[in-house]
Amino acid sequence: MGKKIVVITGSPRKNGNSFAMTEAFINAAEAKGHSVTRFDAAFKKVGGCHACETCYKTGKACSFDDDFNELAPAILEADAVVFTTPVYWYSFPAQIKAVIDKLYALCVGGKDVAGKECALIACCEEEDMSVMDGVRVPYERTAALLKWKSVGEVLVPGVLLVGDIDKTDGCKKAAALAEAL
Ligand SMILES: Cc1cc2nc3c(=O)[nH]c(=O)nc-3n(C[C@H](O)[C@H](O)[C@H](O)COP(=O)(O)O)c2cc1C
Repeated sequence: MGKKIVVITGSPRKNGNSFAMTEAFINAAEAKGHSVTRFDAAFKKVGGCHACETCYKTGKACSFDDDFNELAPAILEADAVVFTTPVYWYSFPAQIKAVIDKLYALCVGGKDVAGKECALIACCEEEDMSVMDGVRVPYERTAALLKWKSVGEVLVPGVLLVGDIDKTDGCKKAAALAEAL
């Protein structure tokens, strides 16, 4: 049976490398009969977590109402959550980091999110795979904390400019990730 997949992107570059992999993944996932909800963090308004600990007390996930409150119900319903992102300064871009920080609402709100599947698709300019640690390690620890099962990571180094991804097997691997779900 088709699964509900939430894809959260981090790049502000619509024609960029991680978006190309995102599209390859989504096309393959939809071809398998899964339904995909896409949240392009860089084109949404999501502020940082205020640590007010009032999550879900107003009926919404975050009391500081922003676009995270559209995403939160989709995450609660999802079978799988896929993060796609470039590396910025050895970490996540601020826009998707704000979304990740607000996942705190699910914990404070006592939501039962255990058992979901997740995956990571990431790219960076440098060739050194350790550059990926800044997104890979928080991704893996987040999955462990939330009791999500990581079904795969597509980590593509050595891509800087728009179109560089086409010189790699990144899109092929992103599409293949859909088979793991
Ligand atoms: C603000 C900024 C910071 C970046 N920081 C890094 C970095 O720390 N390490 C790296 O290898 N690439 C870095 N890059 C390069 C991007 O990761 C690379 O261009 C990637 O392919 C962009 O993906 P996108 O096309 O999906 O946006 C940075 C790019 C920008 C714009």
